[in-house]
Amino acid sequence: MNFHILTLFPEMIVDGLSTSITGRAMEKGAITVNAVNIRDFTTEKHGHVDDYPYGGGAGMVMQPDPVYRAYEYVVESINSRQRDGITSVESTGIDEYITSCDSITNNSEIGNTKKPRVVYMTPQGKVFNQNIARELSKEEDLIFLCGHYEGIDERVLEMIVTDNMSIGDYVLTGGELPAMVMIDAISRLVPGVLGNDISSEFESFSENLLEYPQYTRPYEYMGRKVPDVLLSGHHKNIDKWRHEQSVERTKERRPDLWEKYVKDNSKLSGNLKK
Ligand code: ADE
Repeated sequence: MNFHILTLFPEMIVDGLSTSITGRAMEKGAITVNAVNIRDFTTEKHGHVDDYPYGGGAGMVMQPDPVYRAYEYVVESINSRQRDGITSVESTGIDEYITSCDSITNNSEIGNTKKPRVVYMTPQGKVFNQNIARELSKEEDLIFLCGHYEGIDERVLEMIVTDNMSIGDYVLTGGELPAMVMIDAISRLVPGVLGNDISSEFESFSENLLEYPQYTRPYEYMGRKVPDVLLSGHHKNIDKWRHEQSVERTKERRPDLWEKYVKDNSKLSGNLKK
């Protein structure tokens, strides 16, 4: 799966995702992370990408053109990769691209192939969850658009954004951390990213239940012992105990999820009876 991130801070994305599991997934080629600097696409001589808001008010607004050009560059690179059947997304250099594209009018001018989804990170978006992560993990390419300052000119958002997404009801200084959160959650559902493909299926939220507690050595730590059932070697009892723990945890910590679990399971048993 290929992630393309339109941002003013590409190093933040690359540094954040190059370690641990996502870093290894990049090395293995299970995911690619293509952080594109919106500033590289400005035609303004001082390299500005923002300006004062029409109508007044505090802060600066990101201008539409650099964002649109960066988007178009990414879409072109995806299309040419698909046409040529090559795996690298950097088939065209940015400089080469910028000089070759002078007249940009609207979205429909971009190639004639399928347009990828463009996810704009904004506190005004739909709140991200595991179901959305699962759905997005099926895409071959995803573009994330990260805003800064007081946001991005509305016109370019209308032209390119397919999904407005938030990671929660709080306001961050930019879209980079939210994009990284989403990329992390989506990546671990992509085949080949986790060592063991099934492990992503049986974790918290996979069926609206939280994960059961885990233990490792030593058997006794500061007077606290590992529950005996986990040492019994009796897999059926272990599964039963884990399920009970998941249920207890969910009821106690996330009553909202528990309600959904009960609703979904009563629907399911109703359907089975029919
Ligand atoms: N940008 C700023 N705050 C955000 C949030 N909570 N979610 C997504 N993008 C954001």
